[in-house]
Amino acid sequence: MRDERQAALEAIADEVRTCTRCRLHEGRTKAVPGEGDPDTEVVFVGEGPGFNEDREGRPFVGRAGGMLVRLLGSVGWRREDVFITNVVKCRPPDNRDPQPDEIEACAPYLRRQLEVLDPAVVVTLGRYSMGTFMPGARIGQAHGTSQAVDPATGAANALVFAMYHPAAALRSPGVERDSFEDMRHVPAVLVRARELRAGGASPEAAGATMTPEPVPSPADTSTTIDSDEHLVIAAASDPAADDASQLTLF
Ligand code: URA
Ligand code: SF4
Repeated sequence: MRDERQAALEAIADEVRTCTRCRLHEGRTKAVPGEGDPDTEVVFVGEGPGFNEDREGRPFVGRAGGMLVRLLGSVGWRREDVFITNVVKCRPPDNRDPQPDEIEACAPYLRRQLEVLDPAVVVTLGRYSMGTFMPGARIGQAHGTSQAVDPATGAANALVFAMYHPAAALRSPGVERDSFEDMRHVPAVLVRARELRAGGASPEAAGATMTPEPVPSPADTSTTIDSDEHLVIAAASDPAADDASQLTLF
């Protein structure tokens, strides 16, 4: 499974690296297909490559990437435990926002990545990513909430959880605080997504719409990765999270 997924993701990445489907190919140094664990249950989707990402061909390696790594670390996860990609795979000039026709041109790559990865949870980073998975939502209201994903996005059986863009957290202490608070809920969203998947009914069919349940504060939650590279959540001090203790997340 792992090798098959890896090969399928590599094939998509190869197409992305030579893609000329939209004008963004003209200014790119390197396209940025995305990277991570092919067997992960959680995919993070940002906006598009910035200066550093364009030079390295890897997502979230600049300052925003540092913030994303801190956010992941706050629940005990590492960037290599998840898959990280963007709605557009080539850098918009001067870091401008991606335009609707560029997002549309690039969407088949993201859709195909999600079909291969089959994640339980898609975490959107910022407005443009949220627009793909929660059409019509406003980030000020939608951040920190989750809902069923439209299978047409490629994630056939998943919940989407919206977060602010890490670059916004770098600019505003308030957004940074909200981002860490939102991140704290992601493991519980994963637990819920797994339950929905195990129940057979797709979250979509079940009409699932939810806001995250309270989870222990980061100080109370220890999340470790065992020697088999399995991520384990120990949510010891929250009685409500008893059945979520010692969860193997990956
Ligand atoms: N911002 C994004 O949205 N994506 C990246 O890969 C880097 C910065
Ligand atoms: Fe192709 Fe996407 Fe790059 Fe546009 S942004 S050239 S669609 S890979």
